[in-house]
Parts: sequence; structure tokens; C-alpha cells
Amino acid sequence: MSEQILLEMNHIRKEFPGVLALKDVSLQLRAGEVHALLGENGAGKSTLIKILGGIYARDAGEIVIDGKVVHIDSVHDAQKYGISVIHQELVLVPHMTVAENIYLGREPLKSGRFVDFKKMHDDAKKLLDSFELDIRPEEEISELTIAQQQMVEIIKALSFNAKILVMDEPTSSLSEKDVDFLFENIRKLKKAQVGIIYISHRMSELKQIADRITVIRDGEYIGTKDTKTTDNDELIAMMVGRQLTNYYTRTFGNPTEKVLEVKNLRDGKLLKDVSFHLFKGEILGFAGLVGAGRSELMKCIFGIDPFQSGEILLNGNPAIIRNPDEAMKKGIALVPESRKLEALFPDQTVKYNITIKALGEFIHGIHVNNAQETKITREYVDKMAIKTPTYQQVVGNLSGGNQQKVVIGRWLATKPKILILDEPTRGVDVGAKAEIYAIMNNLVKEGVAIIMISSELPEVINMSDRVVVMSNGRITACLPREGLTQEKIMHHATQFVTT
Ligand SMILES: Nc1ncnc2c1ncn2[C@@H]1O[C@H](COP(=O)(O)OP(=O)(O)OP(=O)(O)O)[C@@H](O)[C@H]1O
Ligand SMILES: [Mg+2]
Repeated sequence: MSEQILLEMNHIRKEFPGVLALKDVSLQLRAGEVHALLGENGAGKSTLIKILGGIYARDAGEIVIDGKVVHIDSVHDAQKYGISVIHQELVLVPHMTVAENIYLGREPLKSGRFVDFKKMHDDAKKLLDSFELDIRPEEEISELTIAQQQMVEIIKALSFNAKILVMDEPTSSLSEKDVDFLFENIRKLKKAQVGIIYISHRMSELKQIADRITVIRDGEYIGTKDTKTTDNDELIAMMVGRQLTNYYTRTFGNPTEKVLEVKNLRDGKLLKDVSFHLFKGEILGFAGLVGAGRSELMKCIFGIDPFQSGEILLNGNPAIIRNPDEAMKKGIALVPESRKLEALFPDQTVKYNITIKALGEFIHGIHVNNAQETKITREYVDKMAIKTPTYQQVVGNLSGGNQQKVVIGRWLATKPKILILDEPTRGVDVGAKAEIYAIMNNLVKEGVAIIMISSELPEVINMSDRVVVMSNGRITACLPREGLTQEKIMHHATQFVTT
């Protein structure tokens, strides 16, 4: 990292109707530096980045690039100043190809008028190859996995040869391998004197990749630390404004009553001979690498995807679950992995999003009035500590982490007996994570059975009664809580299994 200052954002202020998102935030970025931006959900991180990227106009403050005050009024302006942003929400166009997405708005032209598709595909292929990605340029974005889409997004941002690169939670759906790959590229960019602003809720990543860390809380600048001379406790205290005790809350019982049993399930694709059972009042962790088949398995159980053979038993009786409606009627809830795509109604209000499922199917016979809807909304906004100015706020305007809490809140409102959570704390800040753990603990105490898919091993180890490990569509181990280690889980997760 050099001493040369690439970018200064000074005293930035931004107000939305009813929300003062940024009060007075400053940030300095040096050439060759990875500067992490840390703060709770709703602290204002993405807003600051969107101001830099030309998406939002600031209300006050100045942006200085290479010592000159600049005005960034559009995405185009930002690009002109060498700023490239990977936003938290994927912004790729689903029904266009990978190549079209990478070169959107700057397509190579033939005879100055027509898009030169051949050149575009060739260029894209070179780019994808140089990153050793197994993605074809002509593939449609909608056909890629979320992790692949995120990689395309990253490559697109890198392809601008930016001087200032911003990454808003780039790793939230990447596997370990992809994260390593991303970090390798970040290190190369550092050498080339690119300045990088990096947002992530994964504290462990900051140690690996960040030189300095700026913390903001409730739209206010709290401070900037050198990564080398600070630690998690100090950063968390800066973020949440208090010490966080009892991070993982768990009271373990002795669950023995089987509520769910899955026998020899196969889907004809990935899943092979999957058998496990779930007890009332336990948290059953599901560990494995991305692509191991955990989400696919849960989709079969929840009736989203069909399975070829095998059996599902609920409380000892064979159950037929042909669609999510039937699953929900039987007391099962699934909080999916990609909440944005599968679960959120971004143009609707917080109230609508929290109550939609609960009201639709569950409150039979009762006349549901506005007051009851408000009561349910209040209960879960409080329980999940969702940061929103009113219940009428459009969900798309909440911060990323708070959108996730809305989806989890909605499923809790259905009062399920079996709750399946797919990566429940992804993108959620430390304070909210602790809240979610406490809620999970209360639910199991009340007798709910929870399945938790998670790629965060510390979370799996500290929260689970037992841990099922999957690899290649098979269950490779079912481990008791006692003696669990990351190494043990990884050993079974990487076990190669052939049919
Ligand atoms: N377009 C908008 N309209 C109204 N309010 C908004 C809008 N965008 C953001 N906000 C509000 O501004 C505040 C800051 O949000 P921001 O998205 O910057 O948070 P964040 O720090 O990125 O959080 P997360 O970690 O959850 O992504 C939040 O209270 C959010 O609800
Ligand atoms: Mg954000």
C-alpha cells in the first residue's frame, strides 16, 4: 500500500424519506489498499457506495479523486473516474448471455453500427479463461448458479480496468474455492496499485485481505483502524456500540422424538440414497461444500422439486408432499438460500412481506383485519430487530441484511413445527446473527425441529445438536455434537463419493 491517496469521501450526508442513512461519513482510500467498510445491517455501507458509484446523489459532502473535487452524477461519471462497483444485489440481466452482460452498454461494434457478436464472445471467452472459469460466454445468466453469477459480476467489474474497485459483499454466496480465487485476484490488483473498498460481514475475511477497516454505525463515522493492530472484539464493539456477550446461545436438551424421517431419497440427478432423521427440539446442522446437494435435498422435502424414489415420514407416518403448499400445511417451513430471487416481494411493504404467507394459508377461520396484520408485523419486526422506519416501507428500500430478516420473520410467523433454514445468517451482521441464534434456541426449546444448512463451520459447530455432512449428493457422515471440529467436518465434506 502506498501513501498516495486515490479517493476521499468527506462528510457525506444522505437522507431518504424518514431515514437519515448517512450523517457525516468520511473515507480515505490509498492506492494499492484494501479498505474494508464495516457496520451493522442498515449502517449505511451500501448507500455510501451507491453515492460513489453515481446511483444516489449525496445531500452534502465532497468526493475528491487524485486531489481534485469531482462530481459524480451518474454511473457513467463514476466509470469515467475509474470507479467500478460490484453491488450487493446482483444486477445482471437474467435473460441475456454472459458475454452480453459483461459488455452491456459498451458492446464492440462492427462498421461502427452493429454489435460484433463474434468479437464480444471471443473477448468474453478470453476473460473467462484468464480467470479459469468454467462458464461459456453464450450461456444465459439465468442458467448459472448464484455463485457463478457472482463470479461473472466480479469479472465484469475487473474488466473495466478500474483504479478504484468497490465490492459490496462479493463473497456472500461464494464457496471457499471461489473466495480463494477472488482473494488471489484482489492481491494482484493491489500490486497494480488499484484501491479496493471491500464490504463484508465475515470478520475472518477482513483479517486475510484488508489493510485498514473503517467502521460506521447508524450512518455515522466511528473510526478507522489498521487491521494489524485491531481485533474482532474492538471492531464489534465499534460496530454495535456495546460488548456482545453470548454470541452463540444454545441450551441443549435430549431430543428423542422423531418428527421427520427421510429414507433412501434419490432425485435422479444429484441426490443418491439420502437417509436421515430429525428430532423434535433439535437443531440438525447440514454441512458440505457448495454443490453438495444440501439445498436440492431440502427443496425435495419441501415439495419444490420432485424426487424419483424414497420416502418421507412425518411423526412416523408416510407423508405425501407434492408442493410447498402441502409442505406448509404439514407444518414445514423453508427459508431459501437466495432470498432475493425466491422469497422477497421487493416492491411490496414490510408488512405485506411479513404477513403474506402467514395470512394466506394459516389463519383459517379467523377474520384477519388490519389490526391483526399490524400486530403480527410488530411482533416479528421486534423479534428480528428489523431496521425500518415504518411497516409501510417498501422492502426493496431496506438494507440487504434487513431484507433477509423480513423473510425469516415471515416464515417464523407461520409457526412451523419443522423449520428448514438455508444459510440463515448469510449477509447478516454480528448483532443480528446473535439475535437469530437466540431465536433459533427459543424455537427448539418450544419443540420446533430445525434443519440448518450453513457454510459457516463455527456456526454449525456451536449451534447444532448433530451435524449431517454431505458430499456429491450423498450423506457422508452424521456427527454428534461432542468432539465436533472444523477439520472433522471438512474431511467428510471433501470425501469423494462415486455412485
Ligand atoms: N432507496 C432507499 N430508500 C429509502 N431508504 C433507503 C434506501 N436505501 C437505503 N435506505 C435506508 O438507508 C439505511 C442504510 O442502508 P444501507 O443499504 O446503506 O445499509 P448497509 O449498511 O448496506 O446494510 P447491509 O449490511 O444490511 O447491507 C437503511 O436504514 C435503509 O433502510
Ligand atoms: Mg448493504
